[in-house]
Amino acid sequence: MQEFIVGKRADIPDGKAIAVEAGRRAIAVFRSGEAFFAVANACPHKGASLCEGEFLKDSKVVRCPWHHWNWSLDTGELDADPRQKLRRYEIAVDGDDVILRI
Ligand code: FES
Repeated sequence: MQEFIVGKRADIPDGKAIAVEAGRRAIAVFRSGEAFFAVANACPHKGASLCEGEFLKDSKVVRCPWHHWNWSLDTGELDADPRQKLRRYEIAVDGDDVILRI
């Protein structure tokens, strides 16, 4: 497992997302309060950048910017069909650092 420091907590405002590169992977990191979520930054449907979608932070759902499919950041599941999943990654906060583990 590799660790990447994606930034400081303050670099990711509450209710927002940032795009990061970790090795050759494009990852979207979302923040809801003190909770952080990391998922592949490519919608499984047609590849849209999910960090550019609408983030419904209270329900921890990202709505894809292209066709508006809703993905749960908690489970990775598509709301209309939970058999479809978004790739999720482990993320943690250590002090002020936000750390991605892949
Ligand atoms: S590309 Fe995301 S719903 Fe179509």
